[in-house]
Amino acid sequence: MSTGNIRVGVIGTGGMGTRHAVNIHRFVGGATVSAVYDLDQGHANQAAAQCGNARVFDDPIKLINDNSIDAVVIASPDGTHADMTLACLKAGKPVLCEKPLATRAEDAVKVLEAEVAIGRKLIAVGFMRRFDPQHVAVKNMAMSGEIGKPLLWKGVHRNAQIAFGITGATILINSAGHDFDSARFLLSEEVQDVSVRGLKSRPELHQDTKDLLLIQMTMSNNCLATAEVYVNDEYGYEVSAELVCQCGTAITEQPDKTLVRAKSHRGFYVASDWLSPFQDAYVAELIDWVDSLQKGQPFHGASAWDGYVTMMVTTAAIQSLNTGAVVPVKLIEKPALYQ
Ligand SMILES: NC(=O)c1ccc[n+]([C@@H]2O[C@H](COP(=O)([O-])OP(=O)(O)OC[C@H]3O[C@@H](n4cnc5c(N)ncnc54)[C@H](O)[C@@H]3O)[C@@H](O)[C@H]2O)c1
Repeated sequence: MSTGNIRVGVIGTGGMGTRHAVNIHRFVGGATVSAVYDLDQGHANQAAAQCGNARVFDDPIKLINDNSIDAVVIASPDGTHADMTLACLKAGKPVLCEKPLATRAEDAVKVLEAEVAIGRKLIAVGFMRRFDPQHVAVKNMAMSGEIGKPLLWKGVHRNAQIAFGITGATILINSAGHDFDSARFLLSEEVQDVSVRGLKSRPELHQDTKDLLLIQMTMSNNCLATAEVYVNDEYGYEVSAELVCQCGTAITEQPDKTLVRAKSHRGFYVASDWLSPFQDAYVAELIDWVDSLQKGQPFHGASAWDGYVTMMVTTAAIQSLNTGAVVPVKLIEKPALYQ
């Protein structure tokens, strides 16, 4: 990869893609947003205007194959990720693919196999909690050994409101993947089996809705993990991850920077959107990614292997939610590329 300026193309310029494009434009040295594509050309035009009038493409494959593009960010809807990532691999271009890497296990396998066949890590996956300063601090505390061996990961992942009638499977694919990755990242262990229970929080919701999920995982090396994922809390977006270790615990805190006193109340606001609490993480992720491309050093975030594992855990979790069983997570042997 070039040691000069990295010319990035962004595919999908809704909330996440525009955030990535603007973050690259404003905060990432050594990279330029050169092109954008969105199925809705209005969205693409708006994003282009916010980052130095990037070229607007009318076809994502043309953008990926264009000689003026060095690397690609994929932030189009979940179901498009696997095919777009495969197109980047075919063009030999590095890609930062938003999570999930795929929405079906077989597609995640296909992407992983394609990268292994090339023999070079071209894929980065947008599990940005790995760059969140609080998550990194919890990980560092665990690795220091000061509070003993980590035993249990406890996650909370709440959204204010999600579309009427969302199924448990959709939540597991779209949201809980972050929690599966957080557990693996913070414990440095692999998921062995998963059990999921779910319920519908309000009678008026569609009969197939499961908007509150309780997840339990057996992890390798005698560790456990558990998460609450609730997408209709009506008060805001919150994420936390706690490690219970042998002789202490460490938990992420995402305090708003401002303590507010008003209306007989003293406290912090909770963010209503899911982008602002992780702004620092998104920027750190992009800086590390661009650095890895410019300097030929490893990317420190999630790889195609992590994207593949998350999809396999997700698949087992969906099976558990549907059947009530504890479902083992079956992985292929880790290819040497990811050791
Ligand atoms: N890592 C994170 O924290 C995080 C946060 C939010 C979203 N995401 C992921 O980012 C992706 C986008 O989510 P979002 O919240 O920005 O959604 P969004 O609905 O705001 O934006 C999606 C955009 O994709 C466009 N689009 C639809 N079909 C397309 C296609 N075939 N090709 C190209 N563009 C297409 C839409 O017009 C829209 O502009 C999703 O995969 C989501 O899971 C990740």
